[in-house]
Amino acid sequence: MSKKFSIPRGTADILPSDISHWQTMEQSARQVLEIYGYKEIRTPIFEETALFARSLGQSTDVVQKQILTLAGDKENSLSLRPEGTASIARTYIENSIDKKESLTKLYYIGPMFRGERQQKGRLRQFHQIGVEAIGTSQPLLDAEVIALAVHLLSEFEINGYQLRINSLGTSEDKKNFSVFLREKLNQDLAALCKDCQGRFERNVFRVLDCKNEGCKKIVHNLNLKDSHLSSESRQYFNKVKATLNLLNVAYQEEPLLVRGLDYYTHTVFEISHTGLGSQDALGAGGRYDNLIEELGGPKAGAVGFALGMERMLLTKGGTEIPLDSVVDVFLASRGESCIEQAVILLNQLRHLGISSDMSYEPDASFKSQTRLADKLKAKYVLFLGEDELKEKAITLKDMQSGQQEKVPMEKIGEVIQNRI
Ligand code: HAM
Repeated sequence: MSKKFSIPRGTADILPSDISHWQTMEQSARQVLEIYGYKEIRTPIFEETALFARSLGQSTDVVQKQILTLAGDKENSLSLRPEGTASIARTYIENSIDKKESLTKLYYIGPMFRGERQQKGRLRQFHQIGVEAIGTSQPLLDAEVIALAVHLLSEFEINGYQLRINSLGTSEDKKNFSVFLREKLNQDLAALCKDCQGRFERNVFRVLDCKNEGCKKIVHNLNLKDSHLSSESRQYFNKVKATLNLLNVAYQEEPLLVRGLDYYTHTVFEISHTGLGSQDALGAGGRYDNLIEELGGPKAGAVGFALGMERMLLTKGGTEIPLDSVVDVFLASRGESCIEQAVILLNQLRHLGISSDMSYEPDASFKSQTRLADKLKAKYVLFLGEDELKEKAITLKDMQSGQQEKVPMEKIGEVIQNRI
């Protein structure tokens, strides 16, 4: 017996019965994003592995554990993109976009790949709707980008989410903060979970959002506020918050929110939904003012976010929509010579823009073909048998009234066009 193949773990087919949810979400996203001045960009789904390591940070979980590297190209290691920001930074630099415009607003919708352990809401191939605004370090834009994420959610009719925001400050602030954290956590090092003991060395900020109860308690006792921020960074963050207030965006300030990617500076945010279980982030983002320059580009402030499409759809309960194929015309014919003529006719109808179909089986009875026409909710059925072929006239049946008439073959397209 030949092997039956299954879908790879951590991926999902989007069947025709589900596709309308995706298409609706994509269409309304495009509309809203274009209102805010974003233009669509499509980059390859794989890039040099080093681009991701340099952008997201060598020591991050995504780079350490989740990058899916392609086999084969030994000279130049290539990996599937785990997110979109690194690719956008690469193309921004490569195409000297800064020379063409002072502020660039880009959006993307597409698949991302992370080699994660599968669980609800955590896939190896998932889809993001993401935006990146590059070219300014104005806090107004941080607030606008956050407001845009909220606007998208309301357009998708998703409620019951929480928006949490924090500031990491400049890279200098981040450095000082990590020194401070290491000093403080050093005394409790043995009490941290195994993962956090590793994080302490590699990426101490991640200890702050560990879900382990023991770690949470240690972190809680540190009583962290915004003391790691310079007064300029605090001022910057105040402006972001004040603008969010002006825009009526409800948020919660969360001093422990750090994010898992290294490129962030200043504002970071996450939108979570309690209906999602442990993988509760619907989307996240923040400012990354140094990334473009660190990748060899110009100095360019940037801010963006990505929303996870599967998780957004999960909050809506994934109602299945019945597969309702509908055609205007069904062409029923029998016998080799008739079916040949039917294929020609069908082709003519379709070129006239008339949705039409047939059974393709030369031996199918007219009765079974009429049943198929009913299933497809055809408004008209055209019968093409030996008699019709001889007379060069088609029998046209109006399925609603049940009336039948003969129509010359060369007129049939025009007659139907006038009725639908
Ligand atoms: P991220 O937080 O890694 O950020 O991912 C954003 C969203 O993608 C998550 O909140 C989640 O909804 C979805 N997501 C991530 N991993 C998975 C997974 N394994 N399965 C299902 N959904 C997932 C970024 O990707 C940044 N590039 C966002 C950004 C853009 N920051 C600035 N600009």
